[in-house]
Amino acid sequence: MKVISAEFVSAFTELNKLPSDRRPEFAFIGRSNVGKSSLINMLVQRKNLALTSSTPGKTQTINHFLVNHQWYMVDLPGYGFAKVSQKQRGVWKKMVYEYLLKREALWTVFVLIDSRVPPQRSDLDFISFLGENQIPLAIVFTKTDKLTKSKLESSIRAFLTKLEENWESLPAYFLTSSEKSAGRTAILDYISSLLDRFQN
Ligand code: GTP
Ligand code: MG
Repeated sequence: MKVISAEFVSAFTELNKLPSDRRPEFAFIGRSNVGKSSLINMLVQRKNLALTSSTPGKTQTINHFLVNHQWYMVDLPGYGFAKVSQKQRGVWKKMVYEYLLKREALWTVFVLIDSRVPPQRSDLDFISFLGENQIPLAIVFTKTDKLTKSKLESSIRAFLTKLEENWESLPAYFLTSSEKSAGRTAILDYISSLLDRFQN
């Protein structure tokens, strides 16, 4: 897929304010600082469309970006960031879970996993939650530029092995680096194939 246009549309915390045009939505979620906003910018090749930060907790709203006037990328706040208050975390969690469970326009959730860290309980629990609720998902390993090839391979294998404990078949997964634009074509083609399959 060629990205011809990408524009920021809205940033909201309430579900009833989100765009109502029913265009397909592909959401990006993962622990804080995993690289969600960077990945969105990389996919559409725009440096600052989604705001990034080295301080976890940057994205605090549900952000819609319209691509090719056809579908939305949705940047969601990260989970599992300890430094925000318990109350604030509760507010985000309710908002994000409500979005995931109720949003009819949501087609696929891309779950971002930091390729540098061993399997994390919060990631595995979140993936289980999606599975239990039959929300389609794909996995995106981020920051692969920070590892050697062999370390990367063993890290990915460790995560997939964990998933295999609970899943009969593994979801689609992608190896990405926003620094190096790695994985860009694969993810865009994946989205494109879903759009083709269900829109015609
Ligand atoms: P929150 O919105 O705070 O939850 O974070 P986020 O998941 O949107 O992460 P963000 O894209 O803001 O990136 C967090 C930090 O990781 C930034 O300092 C990025 O520059 C860095 N980063 C993101 N992706 C990559 C990558 O592929 N490679 C490298 N080396 N750094 C990355
Ligand atoms: Mg962000």
